[in-house]
Amino acid sequence: MSTDQAVGGRTEELLRLAERYAAHNYHPLPVVIERGEGCWVTDVDGARYLDMLSAYSALNFGHRHPRLVDAAHRQLDALTLTSRAFHNDAFPVFCRDLAELAGKEMVLTMNTGAEAVETAIKTARRWGYDVKGVAPDRARIVVADGNFHGRTVTIVGFSDDPAARDGFGPFTPGFVSVPYGDVDALRAAIDEDTVAFLVEPIQGEAGVVIPPDGYLRAARELCSDRGVLLMADEIQSGLGRTGTTFACEHEGVVPDVYIVGKALGGGIMPLSAVVADREVLGVFRPGEHGSTFGGNPLACAIGIEVIDLLRSGEFQRNSAELGAWLLGELRAANVPTVTEVRGRGLWIGIDLAPSAGTARQACERLMTAGILAKDTHESTIRLAPPLVIERGELEWALERLLPVLASAA
Ligand SMILES: Cc1ncc(COP(=O)(O)O)c(C=O)c1O
Repeated sequence: MSTDQAVGGRTEELLRLAERYAAHNYHPLPVVIERGEGCWVTDVDGARYLDMLSAYSALNFGHRHPRLVDAAHRQLDALTLTSRAFHNDAFPVFCRDLAELAGKEMVLTMNTGAEAVETAIKTARRWGYDVKGVAPDRARIVVADGNFHGRTVTIVGFSDDPAARDGFGPFTPGFVSVPYGDVDALRAAIDEDTVAFLVEPIQGEAGVVIPPDGYLRAARELCSDRGVLLMADEIQSGLGRTGTTFACEHEGVVPDVYIVGKALGGGIMPLSAVVADREVLGVFRPGEHGSTFGGNPLACAIGIEVIDLLRSGEFQRNSAELGAWLLGELRAANVPTVTEVRGRGLWIGIDLAPSAGTARQACERLMTAGILAKDTHESTIRLAPPLVIERGELEWALERLLPVLASAA
C-alpha cells in the first residue's frame, strides 16, 4: 500500500484517451485500475488503493472472490448464452435459490438495476389492472423524494435530482412523489388507482439516508390495508450491505416485491431480478416482457454461488459488526469539519461542513492517501467497502481518513 501516490505515465495517457473518446456522463477520480483482489486494487502505474466504494455495492464480496471466479470459469467452459428462447441448466436453479433466499415464489431475471426497476413498474401496473381492478391506463405508483432507481427515461422522470432529470423529458406519467420518511404523506398520496409504493429501504445515492424508525413498518401496514404493493428497491441496500440479507429486515418488514441487482452478479456479470409471489409475478404471459441476456447461464452460475455465499450469513455478520465499529469510531473522532455520520452495516455517509471543501475534493485527497471513495451531492462522502474487509484494513483506512476529513480544502 502506498501513500501520496502520484499520477504516473500510463495513467495520464489513458485518462487522455477516456477524455477524448468516452462520453462525459461520469466524472471519475483520476485513477486507472488494472487489477483487483479482495478489497484492494492496483492502478496501471503500480499504486495500490483500498476500495471503499465496491462499485456502488456491486462488489460486496470483493474483487475476484475465488468461489465466484471459479464458478464463472466453469460456466465459461460450458455455455455462456442461450437467450430465453431455450432453457439453460443454470437459470432454473438460480431462480429457485433466489426465490428461497427472499422467501418468495417467483423470480424474473434482468441484467442492470434500472431494468429490474422498470420490470417492477410494469409488474405493478399489470397487477393493478389484472388483480386489483384499476381502470385501464389509470395506474399510479408512489415514489419518495430523493430517490435514485436508475437512469431510464421513465425512472429519471420521477427523480427530483435536476442533473438526472433536466433535459430528458417528456416523461412517463403515472408517478407521484412524497417526502421520504413521511408516512402521513404516503397515506395522503394513495388513492384507488395506486398500485405500488416504490421505495429504497435506505436511500443510497441520496447519501445513505436512513428513514425514521418505524417508517417501513408503517408503510407496510398502509400498503396492506389499501391494497398497494410495497416494492423495495434493494439493489444497493440488499445482499448483505447493511448487515442483513435485505435492509427491510431491520424493521422486520417483508415487501411484496424485492428488486435486487448489483452484488447479485458477484461483481462479474450484470444480474438483476424482481422477486415476488405468484399472485404478483404470475401476471406476465409469454412475449410481454424480457431481455436477451436476462437469465443467461454465465450470470446465473455466478448468482447461484453468490446466494450460497449469502446463506452462510458470514458477510452479513461482518458487515454488521465492522460497520458498527467503524460508525462508532467515526462519531467518536468528533472531527470538527464533519457535520453528520450516518450508517447501517458497512454503508456509511459522512457529511462535510463547507470549510472542508466539497466531498469531491475530499475524495481526491483520500485517493492520494490510498483510499478510493465516492462523493454524492456536493457534501457527502459515502463509504461502502467490500464485506470481506477485515478490522485491520479498516483501522488502516481510519488512520488516513480522519486527517483527510479534518483538513480544509
Ligand atoms: C437503489 C438503486 N436502484 C437502482 C439502481 C440502478 O442500477 P444500475 O446502475 O445497475 O442500472 C441503483 C444504482 O446505483 C441504485 O442504487
